[in-house]
Amino acid sequence: MSLVGRSLVSLKNWSLKDIEGLFFISSTFKSNKNTHIDKSSGKLVSLAFFEPSTRTKMSFQVAMGRLGLLSADLGTLSDSSMSKGESFSETVRTIESMQPDLLILRANTTHNELETINRYTLPIINAGCGAVGHPTQALTDAFTIKEKYNLKNLKVLFVGDSRHSRVVQSNIRLLSKFENIQFGFCGPQELLPEQKEFSQFKYFESLDEALSWCDICMGLRLQKERHSDSEFSLEDYRRNYQITSERVQAHLHEDAMILHPGPHVPGLDFEQSVLEDPRCFVRKQVNNGVYIRMALMSAILGLV
Ligand code: CP
Repeated sequence: MSLVGRSLVSLKNWSLKDIEGLFFISSTFKSNKNTHIDKSSGKLVSLAFFEPSTRTKMSFQVAMGRLGLLSADLGTLSDSSMSKGESFSETVRTIESMQPDLLILRANTTHNELETINRYTLPIINAGCGAVGHPTQALTDAFTIKEKYNLKNLKVLFVGDSRHSRVVQSNIRLLSKFENIQFGFCGPQELLPEQKEFSQFKYFESLDEALSWCDICMGLRLQKERHSDSEFSLEDYRRNYQITSERVQAHLHEDAMILHPGPHVPGLDFEQSVLEDPRCFVRKQVNNGVYIRMALMSAILGLV
C-alpha cells in the first residue's frame, strides 16, 4: 500500500511490507544512492511540539533541511494558544485549516485523543504522544537493530520504567510483526507494564539475570513527570536498575546490542561510560533517526 498522504499515529495499521519499504528508503538515503528528490517541491511541514524534545524534533528538522522542505514551527506549548485554554483538538483543526502538507505532532495526549487524529484530512506523524506511543522512535530502533541482526529470533529486554514508556508500547507493536521476537522486562514492580496483553512476556527481578538473557538491552528514562507517587526511592532504583559498565561487562553477551531512546539521565538509569562500550548503539540510533524521518516524510509527501 502506498504511503502517500498517510498518517502515522500508531504502527498498528502499518504492514510489514510498509515497514520494510520504509527501511529500504532509509537505507538508500543513508548510503546516498539512487535517491532522486525534487528539492524544490515547495511542500511545507508544520511542527507542533507540546512536550520537550531534543533528538526527535531536531532530527525531523535536519531531515526537512536535507529534503528541501519548508517548515512552520508552532514552538512550545507556552507559545501556543493552548496556554490560553484552547483545546488540543481545536489546535490541530486550526493548523489543518492553514493547509500545510504534513503535521509533526508531539503532545501529552490520551489514547482516545490520539485516535481522533486519524479523522483529519491533513497527514499527521505522531512524534511521541504521552505514554501512548512513539512510532518514529520504534522505527529508528528496529532499523538500528536490523543493521546488525535479521530482526528475528531475538530476545529484547526493556530496563526501568516500562509502565510510562511510549517507546516500549511502539517497540512491542512493531517488533511483534517480526518472527520470534521475545520480550523481557526488568524494573521495580510499580514501573512494570500494567496491560494484560503484556502478561505473556518474561519478567526479571534481577538486572544481572536479565542482562544474561537478552540480545538487545534497551534502557529507558525514568519518566518522573508521569509518576503520581512521590515516595519513589531514586537510590533504590539506581542501585538495582542502573545499566552500568560493570554489569554490562559481567553479564551481557559479546554480540548483544545496548540501545536507549534517550534522553538518558547519567548516574540514574544509564552510566555515561556505557556509551563507550562497543555494544552500545545509542549514537547510531540518533543518526539513523534522521534517515528514518527523511524516508517517512518523503514517502508520505510523495517525493520518492
Ligand atoms: N527519544 C526521544 O523522543 O528523545 P527526545 O525527547 O529528545 O525527542
